[in-house]
Amino acid sequence: PRGAHLRTDNELEIARVETTQLAARFATPAYVLDEDDIRARCRAYRAALPDVEIAYAGKSLMCRGVLRIIAEEGLSLDVCSAGELAVARSIGFPAERILLHGNVKTAEDLKAALGYGVGRVVIDSLDEIHQLGALTTTAQPVLIRVTPGVDGSTHHAITTGVDGQKFGFSLADGAAERAVARVLAEPGLRLVGLHCHIGSQITRVAAFEEAARRMVGLLALIRDLHGVVLRQLDVGGGHGIPYLPGETEFDLTGFANRLRCAVNYESGRRRFPVPALTIEPGRSIVGPAGVTLYRVAVVKRGATTFVAVDGGMSDNPRPALYGARYTVRMVGRPSSAPLVPVTVVGRHCEAGDVLAEVDLPADIAAGDLLAVAATGAYHYSLSSNYNAVGRPPLVAVRDGVARLLVRRETEDDLLARDQG
Ligand code: LLP
Repeated sequence: PRGAHLRTDNELEIARVETTQLAARFATPAYVLDEDDIRARCRAYRAALPDVEIAYAGKSLMCRGVLRIIAEEGLSLDVCSAGELAVARSIGFPAERILLHGNVKTAEDLKAALGYGVGRVVIDSLDEIHQLGALTTTAQPVLIRVTPGVDGSTHHAITTGVDGQKFGFSLADGAAERAVARVLAEPGLRLVGLHCHIGSQITRVAAFEEAARRMVGLLALIRDLHGVVLRQLDVGGGHGIPYLPGETEFDLTGFANRLRCAVNYESGRRRFPVPALTIEPGRSIVGPAGVTLYRVAVVKRGATTFVAVDGGMSDNPRPALYGARYTVRMVGRPSSAPLVPVTVVGRHCEAGDVLAEVDLPADIAAGDLLAVAATGAYHYSLSSNYNAVGRPPLVAVRDGVARLLVRRETEDDLLARDQG
């Protein structure tokens, strides 16, 4: 994060708080968030895209403390379940600034959304049109999620812009137009625009540009076919972040320019009014702000050196799920030992519980602290209780002060739902 500073004695400070102190106070593993980094990223989005609605994708990191920051920074919010909505609701996140997503929205999800009065529901299937239509008579504003046929060149598990995956209505085979007709015929729903989300951890700005072009084309086609002018276009999130040295920041300025140009150009040439735009970044708002702290528990030296930490795939399943790679540092004490290749592994009962293959000082030993960078997004939110290990706490640091956002999960928590 921006507030990270590695001192010459190898102490890592985040927002002027020493990670050694954080580890002592909150124990390890712990997720640490640089609050000002999150705020700066919200502001950078708003500055680069002043007339675009920025909806934070809550799935990337959802807790009250973070949502308060998002609300204070004036962003909107994307939720994808009644549970995420309940967190937003519990802090009074403005309903009109909330969008409900998901390829499955249960009756509970839909009722909760209608009950809170969320601004927009993003329709993902024909079934949902009827399910939602049956629950409302109040002309709920909706968007239709479209699969524009654009490949963002990312891991297949997080590729959503092409046909052959479960989300959205295909642009290519006419499903999107048919969905529009069905929504227009549903009295309880008011179609206000279209949505697409082509995937996650995408760095190629041209992919977003191409998706936006195709979506404006579809808006114009809908006008021609149905005589309705839809005013809103949500082009989703998915902006990539750097995880490794040498990887670059997402080109936000380039994105802003190319998005605006593409939408203006396509609208102009089809004589369609320029739609109001929404984007839904998650990872690029909170990802770089996070650092996970682990304590080295065991070092096993052999043909491969295994550095085993007190967390693992329960707090970070991303290497196992997506082959994700990370920057890892030993922090908290100086070392002049040469760097040697090691495999950082977790404490869980499977050989695939590998966090990273990196270079660490040869004198790394039990008790040392490791800091893993860029763990703000999809770590806490993907964490599990595998092996009945409690989830780590989430700690926010700002101006030299650390505050607990979510406490560590205890054995009592783990037993709380077990009916014996
Ligand atoms: N909008 C929609 C409709 C989404 O489904 C997502 C993410 C986003 C926005 C935000 O995407 P972002 O800006 O965060 O990339 N667990 C995976 C990522 C899954 C993304 C799911 N959808 C990972 O750890 O890489």
